[in-house]
Amino acid sequence: MLSRLPLVLCVLGTGDAFARAAVTVNVASTLQQIDGFGVSQAFGRAAEFRDMLSGQPQQQGLDYLFNTTTGAGLTIVRNRIGSGTSGSDSILPQSPGGPTAAANYSFDDDDRGQMWFSRQAMKYGVKTFYANAWSAPGFMKTNNNENNGGYLCGTPGHSCSSGDWRQAYADFLVQYIKFYNERGIPITQLGFLNEPDFVATYSSMQSGASEASSFIPVIYNHLEANGLSNVSLTCCDAMGWNTQRSITQGLVSAGMERYLKYITSHMYTSDPTSVISTRLKTWQTEAADLQSRWCATWYSNGGLCEGMTWANKIHNGLANANLSAYIYWQGVEVNQFQASSYLVASDGKTLTPSGRLWAFAMWSRFVRPGAYRVSTSGSVSSTGITAFKNTDGSVVVVFLNSGRSQQNVEVGFRDFAPATAEAFVTDNTRAVAAVVATLSGGTVTASVPALGMLTIKLS
Ligand SMILES: *[C@@H]1O[C@H](CO)[C@@H](O)[C@H](O)[C@H]1NC(C)=O
Ligand SMILES: *[C@@H]1O[C@H](CO)[C@@H](O)[C@H](O)[C@H]1NC(C)=O
Ligand SMILES: *[C@@H]1O[C@H](CO)[C@@H](O)[C@H](O)[C@H]1NC(C)=O
Ligand SMILES: *[C@@H]1O[C@H](CO)[C@@H](O)[C@H](O)[C@H]1NC(C)=O
Repeated sequence: MLSRLPLVLCVLGTGDAFARAAVTVNVASTLQQIDGFGVSQAFGRAAEFRDMLSGQPQQQGLDYLFNTTTGAGLTIVRNRIGSGTSGSDSILPQSPGGPTAAANYSFDDDDRGQMWFSRQAMKYGVKTFYANAWSAPGFMKTNNNENNGGYLCGTPGHSCSSGDWRQAYADFLVQYIKFYNERGIPITQLGFLNEPDFVATYSSMQSGASEASSFIPVIYNHLEANGLSNVSLTCCDAMGWNTQRSITQGLVSAGMERYLKYITSHMYTSDPTSVISTRLKTWQTEAADLQSRWCATWYSNGGLCEGMTWANKIHNGLANANLSAYIYWQGVEVNQFQASSYLVASDGKTLTPSGRLWAFAMWSRFVRPGAYRVSTSGSVSSTGITAFKNTDGSVVVVFLNSGRSQQNVEVGFRDFAPATAEAFVTDNTRAVAAVVATLSGGTVTASVPALGMLTIKLS
């Protein structure tokens, strides 16, 4: 059969060679499970989204993020567990006096807009809510301040005159989850660290594997004691993949894999391009362009803000780093600093989606939570390929062409007989635009645009 050959050449016209590369999707050969794609609206960006946009523009902003017909179809929300000294930024703004004194928790039912944002996401079917603390409250730390790093009192090498606050911090985190659960927003993941390898002027807490390993069993047991073993623990949201890799080695040696469900990392100091050795799922939990001014470009010169650049990062993470989730930093921002650290910009009236949003959409709209990545064989010039099997049995094949010529592909399947095919492309002139994919004899043919993407969904 021709489709079994790696390359089928047919020479047309005046010497133009239209190569059609053959790819086989091995649908029964499953790799990592996909939990989804998402954003955060932490640090008040959720409240701004709610308060500075209303009516149709607000709806459009939500649709851009979560709608599977008109937007990216994101499925994960990452919320910040505040640690500040005001009731709007913390459920325990003041010290109860000591680690064993009764804590007077209170919740403002708003959480800087994150309650509203989470509820909006739920309307689109989002079920994955990652609650992530940047720091313990200041009074629980060696530096008595939620900002500027410092360690959790009671972790190895960090004793404080006020005592050991590990159990109190676990109680604080569990109480935050209860406030959300009681209001019908079930928290699914809990992280107790954010960038523990970076001392920030805002909420931040330092930790290596040894500090983390002295807290993980405490929080694990406290979740269980409170009937919350359905909340999965993550660690450690380090600044970059390489740091998270070395922290993970320490966690694995300390036997922490039995308590954790996810290894989580950001990509600021190194991208996820290779596997971290663990049996846990791995998530890239915060990614952003923190350098450029706002740009909505799909492709210009490979700059950090461009959609193609992010498509490559997501592809690398899924194909080479065994990622189960990829989360950008912010979703929608209104009249914020002129940056590209978010996916959709608004001036309060109109909304502008970025190429970065459409990069996410090419996977997230079609590859739904619970899907498994499956293996492929065959290759296409300059083109990355990832394929997935959804829980409803549909199969999705995503092509990312970094070359300057269109690639024609012929996709066959093992252990799957497609009955229908839909295809969508994104490039400099199109954003998830429907195109023709021809299905014949169980094989689908379509074209991947130059410097662009093609996603084929088969049912
Ligand atoms: C507990 O916190 C609430 C809300 O911040 C406050 O009104 C109340 O006075 C506090 N109670 C005690 C005993 O500190
Ligand atoms: C998504 O957008 C479509 C098309 O505008 C609309 O019909 C649908 O209601 C939206 N979905 C949700 C959950 O709002
Ligand atoms: C986990 O269990 C708690 C307590 O029964 C419940 O309130 C919460 O909704 C559950 N969460 C999930 C994600 O199922
Ligand atoms: C990929 O991650 C899964 C957990 O999601 C793990 O079981 C598997 O061993 C990992 N694969 C590799 C190659 O590390």
